[in-house]
Amino acid sequence: MLSPKEVHGTLKRHQLVDGYPFVLDLEKSHGCYLHDAATGQEHLDFFTSFASWPIGYGHPGLEDKDFRRELESAALTKVANSDIYTVPMARFVSAFATEVTPEGFPHHFWVSGGALAVENALKVAFDWKAQKLGVDKCNDGNDLVILHFRQAFHGRSGYTMSLTNTDPTKVALFPKFAWPRVSNPAIEFDLDGGIANDVEAAEAQSVAEIEQAFVDYAGRIAAIIIEPLQGEGGDNHFRTEFFARLRAFADEHEALLIFDEVQTGFFGSGKPWLWQHHGVRPDVVAFGKKSQVCGIYAGPRVDEVEGNVFRRSSRINSTWGGNLVDMVRSRRFIEIIVEENLCENIATMGQSFVEGLRSLGRERGHFSNVRGAGSLVAFTSESAEQRDELLRALAGKGLLALSSGERAVRFRLPLIVGDAEIDLALERIADCLPARV
Ligand SMILES: Cc1ncc(COP(=O)(O)O)c(C=O)c1O
Repeated sequence: MLSPKEVHGTLKRHQLVDGYPFVLDLEKSHGCYLHDAATGQEHLDFFTSFASWPIGYGHPGLEDKDFRRELESAALTKVANSDIYTVPMARFVSAFATEVTPEGFPHHFWVSGGALAVENALKVAFDWKAQKLGVDKCNDGNDLVILHFRQAFHGRSGYTMSLTNTDPTKVALFPKFAWPRVSNPAIEFDLDGGIANDVEAAEAQSVAEIEQAFVDYAGRIAAIIIEPLQGEGGDNHFRTEFFARLRAFADEHEALLIFDEVQTGFFGSGKPWLWQHHGVRPDVVAFGKKSQVCGIYAGPRVDEVEGNVFRRSSRINSTWGGNLVDMVRSRRFIEIIVEENLCENIATMGQSFVEGLRSLGRERGHFSNVRGAGSLVAFTSESAEQRDELLRALAGKGLLALSSGERAVRFRLPLIVGDAEIDLALERIADCLPARV
């Protein structure tokens, strides 16, 4: 048996080890607390494995005997779900399609990994647009293009590489397509929650760039893709009015509107999907992370093309079609989240965290632009150095958080979080801020 203290050394002999210094104890971690198997230290987990672990550790609902039986049998055979069907898969698909996907989106597709979810959303759009144009072959990477935004992060796979533009080192050395990229009119909030920047001017600028892109790439824009809240790019929020403009552009120019909810979806925003806060319906949504199984759901607009990817075989596919163990776990998560009203819980707790941070910001300074939706909360430090220093201090105090964009600190709360953890986090942040200047 290998001891926890040997974990990093063992890994380092065979691979790059640039992750966290602790060793996750799968048994002793509990609730919102991640237990370090090597040191015994406990961390308040407001990072949740990059927003992917939804209901904390050791949730009692996971003791359920039927669930354990199904999980074990799914773990013993790795099924090629795209072509071989099972009872656990049907139970998962039914739960997801009725409890998580909103009404009016009849099509689903499952795959492993968020980037591949986005990749397949793009393929839905290319296939749809090519058929609309009556084209039977796409030869060049610029025959059809995807309109996307500055500071977007959509993953690091083939097509998504041409969209992702956060930290340049993530994409610099890989060939990319020159697809239209326009400015992202992010809202900045003051410490009372009001809008502090001229967001309407920023939107007008972005709209002008989009109009120009539809001229420069006439007939070739297959889709507009946006994260309804840009996570890695800076936790950037957008106004409903802006999403409505994107909807109108997509309708007017026969392009699909794709929302990348890999980071924001599956109840994380205090609604099943963040787009529901704005009420602007997309054509395709890519999801992953908290949902365990990644994939896409799509609405009726794709059916304007009869032979779309959801009707004709082999346009989009993969051997595993997601992972059956993830499907079983995801179904149980859905049951627990619904039974325990965790979506409502995170809406309330997230708001209380945002309010606590705003009052801390007013009292102590050093950060501004506190923003949030459910589990997705952030603020902006005065400089990148101050942000990095704060994150180091927070980790030392046992509060795990993440960086976002150039200067932001981002928190990704577990959906089970309660008042006690919110208070503790605020206390630890207050302790780590420099003295008032
Ligand atoms: C918005 C968004 N899209 C796509 C991805 C890629 O997901 P994955 O890392 O699972 O490939 C991420 C990952 O952080 C993301 O935040």
